Amino acid sequence: MNTAEGKTVRTIAVASGKGGVGKTNITANLAIGFSMLNKKVMVFDADLGLSNIDVILNLATRYNIKDLLKGEKKLEDLIVEGPQGIKILPASSGIQELTSLDEFQRLRLIEEFESYNGNLDYLLIDTSSGISENVSFFCMAAQEIIIVTSAEPTSMTDAYALIKVLFTKYQEKDFRVLINNVKNSHEATEVYKRLSTAAERFLSISLDYIGFVPHDSSVPKAVRQQKALIDIYPESEAAKSLMEIAGRISGESNNNVKGTLQFFLGGLLKAKC
Ligand SMILES: Nc1ncnc2c1ncn2[C@@H]1O[C@H](COP(=O)(O)OP(=O)(O)OP(=O)(O)O)[C@@H](O)[C@H]1O
Ligand SMILES: [Mg+2]
Repeated sequence: MNTAEGKTVRTIAVASGKGGVGKTNITANLAIGFSMLNKKVMVFDADLGLSNIDVILNLATRYNIKDLLKGEKKLEDLIVEGPQGIKILPASSGIQELTSLDEFQRLRLIEEFESYNGNLDYLLIDTSSGISENVSFFCMAAQEIIIVTSAEPTSMTDAYALIKVLFTKYQEKDFRVLINNVKNSHEATEVYKRLSTAAERFLSISLDYIGFVPHDSSVPKAVRQQKALIDIYPESEAAKSLMEIAGRISGESNNNVKGTLQFFLGGLLKAKC
């Protein structure tokens, strides 16, 4: 990204409320899908948990954002390359620090992002489960939010709770919903309807449906092999759905999206949670 030229970067946070609903797999595979569509993609791993993107893709990370904030490493030293040339920024164990940066660290972060010439089209952010400050922080810094839910009532309740927090605390109204791990499109539509009816009735906001990924045994198989689903099981139903969603998102005329990576960074540095 050449921030000097103000290149537009779409920043998309993937969040869910409930843990284990498929955020990391969806983020990783959407990133690879975008890359296959000739987009330059970076995944910002903002998950404090254990099953992080580097683990599911078997990537060796040496440093994280903490090393950068201490001034010991540069952004390039942190970034690792994943399948199809996607870039991964392993932030994880330095994430807590990002919510309370001092002046030196803020400047350091801005300087690093400004001098990074990655030429990005997409920055995807894989968030933690729960409705923590960190999750709100990244959702609010990103331009777009994808809420992932399965058909499990607990997953739907937590997705709604996250939407409610982001709306009531930060007036966020734009949410896209991706239904994961369902039997078929009918079940996905039912889940979407229930969630969007609640959002409309109690919060007066309408949710945007971006598609579903079916339950597919290839997903855990790919996880066990620490390979990207789209790469090793491209013909699986889940991979085909993810590719279709990536195509749909990248095909949108993103008139409303004016942000640059600096814009995202500005959001990060301003976000008060
Ligand atoms: N469409 C699917 N079909 C079958 N299994 C799935 C599907 N999506 C996810 N899974 C299973 O769910 C597990 C959890 O997925 P993942 O780690 O992506 O969730 P997460 O939301 O990132 O979890 P966490 O909240 O812990 O970060 C995967 O290891 C996979 O086995
Ligand atoms: Mg995860």
